[in-house]
Amino acid sequence: MSEGILLEPVARGTLLPEAARVARLESALPQILAALEGETDEVAIQATLACLLWETLPQANWCGFYRRVGERMLAVGPYQGGMGCLRIPFERGVCGACAREGASQLVPDVRTFPGHISCDDATRSELVIPITVAGRLLAVLDLDSPHLGGFSAAEARLLENLMIQAFAQAIHPSPGMG
Ligand code: SME
Repeated sequence: MSEGILLEPVARGTLLPEAARVARLESALPQILAALEGETDEVAIQATLACLLWETLPQANWCGFYRRVGERMLAVGPYQGGMGCLRIPFERGVCGACAREGASQLVPDVRTFPGHISCDDATRSELVIPITVAGRLLAVLDLDSPHLGGFSAAEARLLENLMIQAFAQAIHPSPGMG
């Protein structure tokens, strides 16, 4: 299956009203899960999610993963958007806060978040979601938007559920990745 998913085309950078964003995400979710069906390779799952969530979330200017590569260290994984920082310690940024706390971080205005790491000066809001399997943090999903309030609590809840379902069958780490 390589056709992507069926969604109404929306120009990159558009912030749809919240109800339309939730409806778009709800219509994408079963298609995303169908695309991932049977896949167990962690990197294949992350790369496909980065691609399909980028299509689903036109308000995003960055969409991808930071993987846990040490006790308190994240390294960038598959993503869409401009170049991201390569490494983020647990002590830094919104991604670090998510990794430390094991809880989603919804930041409607990054200027109000002490220690926010700016990879793109255009970014105004951010949502970071933990991916935890058997109580251990494996990675975080990071979403950035050039709009204030680019993501809502309802979108966060839907994406949290997607992460649980998408990574339930994943093998950690992927065979051959060391
Ligand atoms: N803003 C993030 C860093 C990652 S990039 O934006 C892609 C943070 O504060 O953790």
